[in-house]
Amino acid sequence: MSAVPDIRIHSDSQAVADAAAAVVLEVGREAVRAKGRFFIALSGGTTPEILYRALASPAFADRFDWSRATFFFSDERCVPPNDPRSNYALADKALFTPLNIPPSQIYRMAGESSDPQAAASEYEQQLRLATKTVPSAQPSLDLILLGLGEDGHTASLFPGASILRDRQRAIAATQSPKDPPDRLTMTLAAINRASVVLFLATGSGKAGVVRAILDPKTEAERQFPASLVKPEEGRLIWFLDRAAAAELPI
Ligand code: 6PG
Repeated sequence: MSAVPDIRIHSDSQAVADAAAAVVLEVGREAVRAKGRFFIALSGGTTPEILYRALASPAFADRFDWSRATFFFSDERCVPPNDPRSNYALADKALFTPLNIPPSQIYRMAGESSDPQAAASEYEQQLRLATKTVPSAQPSLDLILLGLGEDGHTASLFPGASILRDRQRAIAATQSPKDPPDRLTMTLAAINRASVVLFLATGSGKAGVVRAILDPKTEAERQFPASLVKPEEGRLIWFLDRAAAAELPI
């Protein structure tokens, strides 16, 4: 039975970032206690930047042994890692560099590849190897961060895309209606195997789509990619600021 969303509303984006940072550390410590390592997938887009900066800030940086963390990405834009649109570039600037995370702990999606399909397969192999996942299973990460697009997309899973029905692959190359068009993304099959999925959505621009996903009225809203994120055995946590939660019936 998939998780009931745990909706947490905070006054503003900084309060959301601080509360989410506390949960990242809590999940991280639990994972290290259980198996010595913390497997976390970072989100794309701009919203997570404030969370990354919170984790790298004096308030949080020394409260976790970051040498125990292994970083993956839930999606990437097919651009070079130094491109301002790169999800890796954002994470490197706001998290990896401030925390001195060595490259050996970071699994970056090769957005610069001229062959996205091959890059997706290569990343899937790396992910399966690093998480010691058998071929018949989906990798199960401790925590996956996700953002939310105003059209209901998450990671690089866009409404109506055939990849939404893929139950085999963990990583795929996809097309985005948003720039840049070529993307690499985790699939729902892999996302829904996570122990914890943490959505971050802030700002009034997200209020309509947040209501559509957390209080759907139509089948179309129930089929939004973000609506299909339902961890099979894990927790689903939504961090919202008041502006993004404004249309929720609570
Ligand atoms: C991406 C993201 C995407 C993002 C949403 C929200 O690479 O674009 O993974 O799913 O999370 O588009 O983006 P913002 O946080 O910038 O609003």
